[in-house]
Amino acid sequence: MPPPSAVVPGVGIQALILCGPGVSLNTFTTNEEYPKALIPLANRPLIYYQLSWLKKSGITDITLITPPSTAPPLQAALQQNPHLTSLPSPSPSVLAPKGLDLNMGTAELLRLPEVQACIKTDFLLLPCDLVCETPGESLLEAWMVSQSALGGSSTVSEGRNAHGPTSSGPGGEKGGRRGGLTVFYQTQNREESVKGEGTDFLAIAPLDDDEAPAVSYAVDGPAALRHNLSKVVLSMPMATVKEKMEQDKGLLLRRSLTEKHPRVKMLSTFRDAHLYIFPYWVKELALRQETFQSVSEDLVGFWAKAEWQRGLGEKLGMDEIFHRENGAHAESGSFDGESIEEEIDLLAMSTTSSRPNINVARPPPTSSFASRVSNVSSDSDKPELKIPPLLAYVQRGSAPFVRRVDSSAILLSTALRLAKLESIEEAGAAASPFALPQKIAHPEGIAQRTTITKSDCLVGQNTTVESKCVIKESVIGANVKICSGARLQRCLIMDGAVVNSSCTLTGCIVGRRAVIGKDSILKDSEVGDGYLVEEETDAKNEKFMIFEGLEDDEDMGSSGEFDGEDELGF
Ligand SMILES: *[C@@H]1O[C@H](CO)[C@@H](O)[C@H](O)[C@H]1NC(C)=O
Ligand SMILES: *[C@@H]1O[C@H](CO)[C@@H](O)[C@H](O)[C@H]1NC(C)=O
Ligand SMILES: *[C@@H]1O[C@H](CO)[C@@H](O)[C@H](O)[C@H]1NC(C)=O
Ligand SMILES: *[C@@H]1O[C@H](CO)[C@@H](O)[C@H](O)[C@H]1NC(C)=O
Repeated sequence: MPPPSAVVPGVGIQALILCGPGVSLNTFTTNEEYPKALIPLANRPLIYYQLSWLKKSGITDITLITPPSTAPPLQAALQQNPHLTSLPSPSPSVLAPKGLDLNMGTAELLRLPEVQACIKTDFLLLPCDLVCETPGESLLEAWMVSQSALGGSSTVSEGRNAHGPTSSGPGGEKGGRRGGLTVFYQTQNREESVKGEGTDFLAIAPLDDDEAPAVSYAVDGPAALRHNLSKVVLSMPMATVKEKMEQDKGLLLRRSLTEKHPRVKMLSTFRDAHLYIFPYWVKELALRQETFQSVSEDLVGFWAKAEWQRGLGEKLGMDEIFHRENGAHAESGSFDGESIEEEIDLLAMSTTSSRPNINVARPPPTSSFASRVSNVSSDSDKPELKIPPLLAYVQRGSAPFVRRVDSSAILLSTALRLAKLESIEEAGAAASPFALPQKIAHPEGIAQRTTITKSDCLVGQNTTVESKCVIKESVIGANVKICSGARLQRCLIMDGAVVNSSCTLTGCIVGRRAVIGKDSILKDSEVGDGYLVEEETDAKNEKFMIFEGLEDDEDMGSSGEFDGEDELGF
C-alpha cells in the first residue's frame, strides 16, 4: 500500500463514467454505432474531456458504464481514436451490464449486480458529457481534508475498501470517509449560456466551524476551493420546484430546515454538474433503496434532506449502514417517500418572492411565524443519527469552466468557447488543459485568398478549405471539405462533412459526413449525420435529419430517465 499522499489525491479512488446513447443530442448520435460519448466537441470526442481530467487528477481506475449496444463502438474508439489513445495508460475498462436499458434511472443502474461488483472503493460518478476545468485534484483534496476534519479518515488506504464497507463507526473514527461532494455551476450570464437551459434548485448552508478545518494553504490552492464549500440541504430540478409551487401556491419548506440551518441560501440559476465524489457506503445506500430512480433527484436529494430532517436518515437505512458492527438492527429502513412534518411557506415570509435568488436571513420568530408551525416531535430517547454532510462546491465565476454538454445549443456554444483557447503551440505551458496542439491542424489544406480567424477557430486534420472563403468563430472537424466562396460564422462542422461552394452558414451545426448543396443559406439550423441538404436551400431554425426506424415503434428513451436531460448523461 503506498503511503498516504496529498500530492496525488486520486490514488485509491475509482471513477465511473456513465455513457448513455445521447437522446438529448439525437441529431448527432445513433444508438448502435455512435453514442454521445463519441460526439466531437472542439475536435475531440466528448469522453476525452472526462478521461483527461480524471487522469490529471491521478485517477487511473476508470470504468465506462454503457448499455451493451453501445459498448463495441466505445471499445473501438478507445483503441483507435488518436485523442483517446494519446491519454496516459492504463486504458479505461468498459462495463456493459446486461440489464442496462435506455430508460433506466442512474440510481437503478447503481443497483445492477455488475455495477455493484465493480465498485470497490470511494468513487467518483460523472456523466460522459461533462467538461470541467476545475482541477479534479483540488476537488478531491478539498473533499479529503474536509473528511478528516469530520473525524473520518485522512489517509488513502483507510478511505478505500481496505476495511470494507462496515468499518466506519458513527464518527468515522475507524476510518472510511463518510461525506460526499457535489459540484454546481452557474448557467446564466456566461459566454456559453443558451436560452431555456434547465437549472436545479439548490439550498446550501455554511459549514460549521468544526467542518471547515483551519489549515493554511496557498491562497489559490485547494484550500481556496475548500473555503467555498458549503453543505447541500436541498437539491432538485427547477422543474420539480415549479410544479410544487403551482400545487402549493408557494414554496413550502420544512421547519426543521430553517431551524437547523438559519443561514440557508437558495439558488435557482445553478445546475448540478452530476459530478459526485461518493464514499464507499453510498454503494450500499443505492442498493437498499429500491425506490431511488435517479442519483441526482433521489439519492442526493434525500441524503441532503436527511442531514436536517429528523428520522429520515433512519428511514433510508443509514443508521444500519453506519452502525452495523454495533449490532444495532433497526427495522429494515424501507422508505415510503415522505414523512410528516409541518412546512413553512418560505415565499410568503419573504418580501422578495419574485427574485430568483432567495436569501433567508434568520427568519424572526414572530407570532405569525410561530403560529404557522407546530412543535416538532422528537424521539428524545434515541441518540440522534449523525448524517455525514453532502458538500457542494459552487462554481460561481466564469472560470474555470464547468458545464454539461447535453443539448445541441450547448454543444455549439461550448465548442465555440473552447475554440478561443490559445493552442499549446501559442501558449506553451500556460495553455488550458483542453487546448489543442494547433489551431489549424493541417495548414497545407487551406487555400490562399481565404480568411480564417485563427483566434476563435479550430480546423481539424486533413481538412481542405478552398479559396475566397470567410470563416469566423467556428469549429471545423477533420476530413471536411469547404468549397470556394463559403462563408461560415459561429458554426460547428463535424468530421467528413462537405460544404459546397458559395454557401452561407450562420449559427449552424453540420453533422458527420453531411453535405450542404451549393448556394445554400442556413441560419441557426442543425443538419444530422449523413444528411444531404439540397442546393440553394434557404432555411432558418430548421433541423434536417434522417429518421430511422420510426415504424419499429422504438422506445427512444425520451422519458427523461436514462437519457433525459435530468439525468447523468444517459
Ligand atoms: C471562492 O469564492 C470567492 C467569492 O465568491 C471567489 O472570488 C473565488 O474565486 C472562489 N474560489 C474558488 C477556488 O472557487
Ligand atoms: C413547544 O413545546 C414547548 C415545550 O414542550 C412549549 O412550551 C411550547 O409552548 C410549544 N410551542 C408551540 C408553538 O406549541
Ligand atoms: C484525407 O482526405 C482524403 C480526401 O478527402 C482521404 O482520401 C484520406 O483518407 C484522408 N486521410 C486521412 C488520414 O484521413
Ligand atoms: C458541389 O456541387 C456540384 C454541383 O451540384 C457538384 O457537381 C459537386 O460534386 C459538389 N462538390 C462536392 C465536393 O460535393
